[in-house]
Amino acid sequence: MTETEAPGADALQEYFDATIARDQRVEPRDWMPEGYRKTLIRQIAQHAHSEIIGMQPEGDWITRAPSLRRKSILFAKVQDEAGHGLYLYSAAETLGADRDDLTERLITGRQKYSSIFNYPTPTFADVGVIGWFVDGAAICNQVPLCRSSYGPYARAMVRVCKEESFHQRQGYELLMTMMSGTEGQRAMVQDAVDRWWWPSLMMFGPPDDNSPNSERSMAWKIKRHSNDELRQRFVDMTVPQAEHLGVTLPDPELRWNEERGRYDFGTPDYAELMRVISGDGPCNAERVTRRRTAHEDGAWVREAAAAHAAKHTARHTGPDRTEAAA
Ligand SMILES: [Fe+2]
Ligand SMILES: [Fe+2]
Repeated sequence: MTETEAPGADALQEYFDATIARDQRVEPRDWMPEGYRKTLIRQIAQHAHSEIIGMQPEGDWITRAPSLRRKSILFAKVQDEAGHGLYLYSAAETLGADRDDLTERLITGRQKYSSIFNYPTPTFADVGVIGWFVDGAAICNQVPLCRSSYGPYARAMVRVCKEESFHQRQGYELLMTMMSGTEGQRAMVQDAVDRWWWPSLMMFGPPDDNSPNSERSMAWKIKRHSNDELRQRFVDMTVPQAEHLGVTLPDPELRWNEERGRYDFGTPDYAELMRVISGDGPCNAERVTRRRTAHEDGAWVREAAAAHAAKHTARHTGPDRTEAAA
């Protein structure tokens, strides 16, 4: 770097800081600090991976859904998640990330995805509870991201959140139907609620005093609220829904706090969260293996698509233009 460029770098940093301070958006062509770019790539990639891996636990029920209506709803939902993954990988590409590299990192375990998708789905009630809890938690997390400082990420979130609301409602509607069914169905719903409640609270990440990346992300306005604040919002939103549904949430410490105007609740088992994040959850190996196999089995599709695109380009670019380009 020459001496004349140095003040330029300061000016760029100043402009970036001012953009963040004014609550304006940072766009792909704008200068940004390397740390901001890396943090965003890491967060968006993890988010994209979560959408794609998240297709698996529920996807297992597509062939076994109890009616054509439930099958088509579930099919549409799982397909939406694939779409969310694609918007997000595209958003990561605007930051200079390479899509193949991100996939490689996922299937070799070097990049993470949400801990929640490492839990099994043994009954059809799990489909309903995932919609209600997991998509509900995703909404709490993602609605504030619609105001994230990075433009492409924030805009992707607007559409994603609209679809997540549908997902949450279809889950809740499924559970309402089961709760008005037989004693066995009601027991199945309660069992699924008992299994998913704590892992859902863990989706918001470690507690604030142990969340190393949070502070920086909040200063950059990538993230708008702390993990604990979002977790509290989720609890406050979900408790009345549980009462309406007629299920109990498995937390003896859960009670309304008149003074705070919010619910008090117990502490999730963060040691379990750390185990699952580090790869030792009930289904980590299965999820990653399946993704890796699907990626390898799909190699011929990618090759065929690339060959087709090359042929198409050759046909529409005359020999003169090809030479000029070369
Ligand atoms: Fe999604
Ligand atoms: Fe969803």
